[in-house]
Amino acid sequence: MGCELHLEICQHSYSTLSKEQILEAVNTELSTWLEIYLDTIIYGKDCTNLVLKEHVESMVCSDYSSLEKEKVYIQEAVFKFYIYSLTQEMAATETLQSDSEELSVASHWVLPSIEFHHIWQHLFYDSNIKNDLLHYVETTMLFSDRGVNSNVISWNKVILLHGPPGTGKTSLCKALAQKAVIRMRDYFTHGEFIEINSHSLFSKWFSESGKLVMKLFDEIRNLVQDTKALICILIDEVESLAHARKSCANGTEPSDSIRVVNALLTQLDQIKRYPNVLILTTSNMTEAIDLAFVDRADIKQYLGFPSEVAIYHIYRSCLRELMRTGVLNHKEICDISELKMLGYEETSNTKNSLKLLEICRASVGLTGRALRKMPFLAHALYLSGVSISLSQFLKAMQLVIEKRKRESLQ
Ligand SMILES: Nc1ncnc2c1ncn2[C@@H]1O[C@H](COP(=O)(O)OP(=O)(O)O)[C@@H](O)[C@H]1O
Ligand SMILES: [Mg+2]
Repeated sequence: MGCELHLEICQHSYSTLSKEQILEAVNTELSTWLEIYLDTIIYGKDCTNLVLKEHVESMVCSDYSSLEKEKVYIQEAVFKFYIYSLTQEMAATETLQSDSEELSVASHWVLPSIEFHHIWQHLFYDSNIKNDLLHYVETTMLFSDRGVNSNVISWNKVILLHGPPGTGKTSLCKALAQKAVIRMRDYFTHGEFIEINSHSLFSKWFSESGKLVMKLFDEIRNLVQDTKALICILIDEVESLAHARKSCANGTEPSDSIRVVNALLTQLDQIKRYPNVLILTTSNMTEAIDLAFVDRADIKQYLGFPSEVAIYHIYRSCLRELMRTGVLNHKEICDISELKMLGYEETSNTKNSLKLLEICRASVGLTGRALRKMPFLAHALYLSGVSISLSQFLKAMQLVIEKRKRESLQ
């Protein structure tokens, strides 16, 4: 039995080749390779096959069970192929107008969207969170599609990601929806992603909010009719709904607002009965949220501060981006599994990687959002120009972390 792999192939949106033609080119290319790297972006322009150079933007290969392998021999691999193109339009935004301000209350993307491209690849967590979530979504959609009776087997189509701000909750919702659409080609031709910004919806102008919620759900109901589309609705920072309800009960908000919140919840409860709807929610609060529909979420996933190993992955992805763009003159940096395999022994090959690991240890306690800023700060504060050596860059990173620590102690 070979190793089963998913190969996602992003065809350029201008390419008019058929899927068969792309597949043929991919197979030709693969037959010249010895091995394939997992969870690594392979750009079409770097392939030798001319069709791939011209028609394929990128490919990403991953395995079914996250074996923590870095690469797989092509001979041992059994591929499942997914070919997709990205929609190029930017998000459409629903706004609320007041005299002085314009608030965005909802944004709408058609998936797979160029704006969500490769987010998945750049999110790193300690456990197998990403694949677990994807499997949940796949099972949810399979059961809905098969018409499994939910009185016999109950499942809920609400996912809740919670944890401190900056831990990648919103990003993971977007990445998950995009991934689900790409992987579930047998069910869906595309996806619609509607992000409801409950924070601005309930911050002001309650009388307008009511009309807007109705208008929004009229549109969503239209979209849902297309059974070949996966409709993902993101309620970001869902605690603001519970908060609006509470302040209303306390009499600190007009009672209109409770009706708007309830209308939104009722609409969501109705819409999630459709087989092709998925509701994604996030919360920055870890304590229970006083909302029945989130309470019943099947999948509640806590996202916290990245560990040393996750930080290593995050920093490495940042450094590789700087290598790709020539800011750094190095070409490679060891993967953490390589370091482990070599017993963390210092050689000329592993020297920089071990240094990076040390920096990771010093960075524990920072959120993903903060970590992703460190390489920028390192360059901005301590370096200039391009073609910088890796060891120089790592020294600057270390200075930034030390500076950050000093500042947080003050
Ligand atoms: N675990 C992580 N791995 C990689 N990047 C992360 C991680 N967590 C957060 N980030 C980065 O931090 C930024 C903020 O993430 P976001 O999804 O807005 O967080 P949240 O919604 O939890 O506040 C994003 O650019 C994201 O790429
Ligand atoms: Mg967020």
